[in-house]
Amino acid sequence: MYRFSRRGFLASGATALALTLVPPGRAPAASGNHRLVPGPARVPLLGDSAPATPVWAYGGRVPGPEIRLRQGAPLRIEVENGLGQDTTVHWHGLRLPNAMDGVPYVTQAPIAPGGRFVYEFTPPDAGTFWYHPHVRGSEQQGRGLYGALIVEEATPPKVDRELTWAIDDWRLAEDGTIQESFGNGMDLSHAGRLGNLATLNGRDSGQFSVRAGERLRLRLINTANARIFALRFEGHRPWVIALDGQPVAPHEAAGGRVVLPPAGRADLILDMAGDPGASFAVIDDYNSRASYKFLDLVYQDAPPLRASPLDSPMALPANPLPEPDLANARRHEIVLAGGAMGSLRSAILNGEELGIRELAGLGKVWALNGIAAHRVDMPPLLTFERGRTQVLALRNDTAFPHPMHLHGFSFRVISRNGRPNPRREWLDTVLLERDETAELAFVADNPGDWLFHCHILEHMEAGMNAVFRVT
Ligand code: C2O
Ligand code: CU
Repeated sequence: MYRFSRRGFLASGATALALTLVPPGRAPAASGNHRLVPGPARVPLLGDSAPATPVWAYGGRVPGPEIRLRQGAPLRIEVENGLGQDTTVHWHGLRLPNAMDGVPYVTQAPIAPGGRFVYEFTPPDAGTFWYHPHVRGSEQQGRGLYGALIVEEATPPKVDRELTWAIDDWRLAEDGTIQESFGNGMDLSHAGRLGNLATLNGRDSGQFSVRAGERLRLRLINTANARIFALRFEGHRPWVIALDGQPVAPHEAAGGRVVLPPAGRADLILDMAGDPGASFAVIDDYNSRASYKFLDLVYQDAPPLRASPLDSPMALPANPLPEPDLANARRHEIVLAGGAMGSLRSAILNGEELGIRELAGLGKVWALNGIAAHRVDMPPLLTFERGRTQVLALRNDTAFPHPMHLHGFSFRVISRNGRPNPRREWLDTVLLERDETAELAFVADNPGDWLFHCHILEHMEAGMNAVFRVT
């Protein structure tokens, strides 16, 4: 039976706690120098009164230290591998030099146990980004290796509190330890590793304390392996001001629902319009038949901070993204195929055409344009002329949703399902539901070999990745 209930989980433990303010997981840095050490740790995912869960973490914490800097400032991060296996760090969503992208065998040699690597770059864009390993992602990220990377605008909108919410989904055993079933055939071929415990900044997401009248900026980051969240803030009207780190014209979330695929981010402005002492649920209803309460917003018993909501502007300053030139673009079709209940009969694996049964036996069940990736450093699926606008026309020919991520670039979503997309938002991870299509446009201005893959980590590991070369 599918189970997703915080309530049923160690019921005598964490969930019975009184109001606790979830730690924002934030450590402002005075300089652009950081040190990240991934290694084993124990963290109280289920709260302080339950046994701590053995995890893998950066600096012993989940999420890892929040890296913050001003737009235009340089960053230097020394990574020392405290794991018993290779690792790398990928800076998700950042436009950076290819050699800093953190992809083993493609942009660098993996960092061996005990080894170190220094990442140095200057992020050009302000926004909400994050970091995670790019080796055995299903297990390394699934055990807790991730953290936020926030690039601050020179002139941010005025808010009372700014919070980073890293949202995760864990598959725990009854004793509170992580279930070891990484990369099993069921997860690979279906919806990925879905869990049974939702966390906010590494804690069971029970309650969150707010003050009447305050204006919050929430930076949401979905760090789950596979779970898609769709959060509804009961009694509140979240405004979206950025998606995947890039500003959008401020707008109310469609239907009041903020959809966050794995790796997706959304910056929200939330005016706390409830009364002191009131409490409102935040519901995840992505799966309408298994919706559940993600957390409660609990209003302090203090007088409202102000009589009426702030009406200062919410819009973020633009980032220096190159504008696609659609009249002179090169167009590429990419078909997503495979998985359980799909129509894929065969695919090329390592140069050989194999039937779906053989592919399943090898754990490679997803394909892009008929090719199931057998390693990360694949020969390029597409080659782009540097400086030229590229349009990727994606079609999801499978029975599952796929959040498709392009390294090194943000792209404009110019159409969905054959219709022009009025908002033309910039994303780095676009969610395609089954049978959906989308057209993405970007200027291939950054040379190197860049990964393109599904961010359901089990899908990536089961063949859904490719390399694009910008020459
Ligand atoms: Cu979050 Cu290959 O990326
Ligand atoms: Cu996928």
